[in-house]
Amino acid sequence: MAAEGSILPHVGRLLVLLPGLGAVTTTFLAGVEAVRRKLAYPFGSLSQLGELEGMDGHGQVLRNALPLAPLEDLVFATWDIFPDDAYEAARQAKVLSEQDLAAVEDFLRSICPMPAVFDPQYVRRLNGPHVKRAPTKRHLAEALCEDIHKALQETGASRAVLIWCASTEVYIPPAPCHHSLKAFEAALEANDPAIPPSQIYAYAALRMGIPYANGAPNVSADIPALEELAELNQVPIAGKDFKTGQTLLKTVIAPALRRRLLGVQGWFSVNILGNRDGWVLEDEGSFRAKEVTKTGVLEGLLPAEQYPELYGELYHKVRIHYYPPRGDAKESWDAIDIVGWMGYPMHIKINFQCRDSILAAPVVLDVALFLDLAHRAGWHGVQSWLGFYFKSPHVRREESVEHDLFVQYGRLQQALTNLARLPAKLTVSEST
Ligand SMILES: NC(=O)c1ccc[n+]([C@@H]2O[C@H](COP(=O)([O-])OP(=O)(O)OC[C@H]3O[C@@H](n4cnc5c(N)ncnc54)[C@H](O)[C@@H]3O)[C@@H](O)[C@H]2O)c1
Repeated sequence: MAAEGSILPHVGRLLVLLPGLGAVTTTFLAGVEAVRRKLAYPFGSLSQLGELEGMDGHGQVLRNALPLAPLEDLVFATWDIFPDDAYEAARQAKVLSEQDLAAVEDFLRSICPMPAVFDPQYVRRLNGPHVKRAPTKRHLAEALCEDIHKALQETGASRAVLIWCASTEVYIPPAPCHHSLKAFEAALEANDPAIPPSQIYAYAALRMGIPYANGAPNVSADIPALEELAELNQVPIAGKDFKTGQTLLKTVIAPALRRRLLGVQGWFSVNILGNRDGWVLEDEGSFRAKEVTKTGVLEGLLPAEQYPELYGELYHKVRIHYYPPRGDAKESWDAIDIVGWMGYPMHIKINFQCRDSILAAPVVLDVALFLDLAHRAGWHGVQSWLGFYFKSPHVRREESVEHDLFVQYGRLQQALTNLARLPAKLTVSEST
């Protein structure tokens, strides 16, 4: 993105719309409020703690260099298939302690989900009562637009962003209705099964000129029809699948091995987790969506075509097991079989004992704030520079996917630097 044009200043409130009031969303909400109340420090958030590097060779605090929406001005609305408020949902998610939840209970209790657009055909291990009924998918999209309109009015927000934090839908291969906006809209009317709920949310947001990001691995806005709508309505989109734990480390270790031209014969990645996300991922269809985003990472980082001797035999396997005792405290193991000088084998073992939603929450925050910033600068369509945050970066059709975390970080910095250089656009009252 070139540093051209101008940027609208942040004025009023920013509404963060979140389909899915589960572990990630409730941890994000509780954390934002705890930081606002000065009860917590925003660990892991570039937007809150990061520096803008490279501006005149000096680091500058990002929040001072960019007109980001401050946390105080964020307001929220969610949808879920269960009617529990954010406090009850957070208790069930069992990520945060009772003590941390009690400190923000009043705030969490004030957030009640709107009935969801949901169909168990796309998330086969879940079903819930808090869902919308309508004759067609077009009607459902319109109902979501009404929800958004109402949420904007009720919260007094001047603008919004929508981040998909709901369950992983089953893998849906590309279908004819994904190819153009016209075909997609006809398919909404015809209840085409190739359109899952996440695409209905994405369509509703984009139709209303609201930026959209997909935190899950399922196919959502990464289809030509919705890319076309994003361009048409001049809205930025990003995705997909938050890069948080095992894959974050994979995209650091693999580039290091590649730079030293060490061979890699095998990479076996295993995960155990016991939260609802893990339960959903036990289903073959949802796991397939995750497998596609998790396994695609190494191909670009360890190029077999360029170095057949080093990476031609690479065997990459990813497994996710639902294991209730662990809840959200996911554990992952990587067994990496590498090859050094004269073909001698060596082995690397990584054991990451993480907390899934603790890693994801600051990513939700950064993506929401950066998407809003991009929108105010008039940037639209696929925002490849946000690939830093995603396992399977959604890039423009003409671009190749970059997985190397440090290359992604450089691109993010460059984009933010470009945004920081934009002059503020005068509002109507200022210019007259
Ligand atoms: N935590 C991480 O580190 C991480 C990383 C990458 C991706 N993700 C993805 O983020 C998503 C959320 O993860 P989570 O741990 O919060 O899962 P979760 O199961 O705790 O929460 C998901 C929520 O979405 C709701 N839901 C399902 N379909 C819906 C629909 N159509 N509309 C509205 N609500 C719906 C469910 O009822 C549930 O409450 C998952 O898709 C997960 O794969 C998480």
